[in-house]
Amino acid sequence: MTAHRHLLDLDDAQRPVIEALIARARAFKAGVRDASVRLRGKTVLGMFFEPSTRTATSFAQATLKLGGSWHDFHPDASSFTKGETLEDTMRTIQAIGADAIVVRHPESGFPHALAQYFGGSILNAGDGWHAHPTQGLLDAMTLLEEFGTLDGRRLVISGDIRHSRVARSSARAAHLLGARVVLCAPPLLLPPTSPGWGFAELSADFDACLPKADAVMLLRIQKERADGAELPPGEDLAWGYGLNAARTELLPEHAIIMHPGPVNRGVEIPGHLVADVRSRIERQVENGVFVRMAALEWCLLASAADVRPLRSAGATSS
Ligand code: CP
Repeated sequence: MTAHRHLLDLDDAQRPVIEALIARARAFKAGVRDASVRLRGKTVLGMFFEPSTRTATSFAQATLKLGGSWHDFHPDASSFTKGETLEDTMRTIQAIGADAIVVRHPESGFPHALAQYFGGSILNAGDGWHAHPTQGLLDAMTLLEEFGTLDGRRLVISGDIRHSRVARSSARAAHLLGARVVLCAPPLLLPPTSPGWGFAELSADFDACLPKADAVMLLRIQKERADGAELPPGEDLAWGYGLNAARTELLPEHAIIMHPGPVNRGVEIPGHLVADVRSRIERQVENGVFVRMAALEWCLLASAADVRPLRSAGATSS
């Protein structure tokens, strides 16, 4: 019997699931013999309501490497524009034979809504401020590759935390694997007091955080999600919370530099540090393909016996 499960967020994820997905991603990276037929006969639809380079392309690449079919659904060129409801669109896509939908949307909770109408798997490729689970997994994989274990390691995430779904998912994945997570931002860009962030340390002093960091992850200002909220000027954020040559001197020698992309060179990180010997930014992108292979396989080849969504489709997001 075929069954489906979803990858909606990491909010309720348990360490063994995260470890299993990353172990599988690492196996794909090392080479799995039957990888190219794992999704034979499966159809995956990419539904991106927001721009994407890394996530959309690597999900497509992951699907093709597993032998599945990938199709792009363009919301602006779809019958959404003629007033078709979400429910009817989902029924239509299901009737056409899609097994999974990879969705990105500016509204938090949109993938959870899709999961209520669609009989296949939903994989969240980023919803509003809420979650970007495969980014969290690929960041954790990159850290594990570097350090072997995250127990006792310290990840400092700096920049626009408040509007960042990446920060939420990456912080949670690293925390579940044993890392200490420090969220560093001006008060305006720290997360609002809400459940889900209790495990993290908050700081407004980036310089003070750097000497103890094993990894530092920079975030861009997410103007498109700021929702009219006041934002500090880019130069203020760069001055207080961006990396620069002097700040790299504060880092321990072994520390690595990460960024989920897209990078705004000269704002949160100068161009020359993007390709610095300590930068793992391209490694993060590379690992994204393997994490997405693991995620697609995990969702699409679930057996009826072990189907348990990482988060229930009815849950609301914060
Ligand atoms: N990190 C990330 O989500 O990048 P894209 O917006 O290019 O997918």
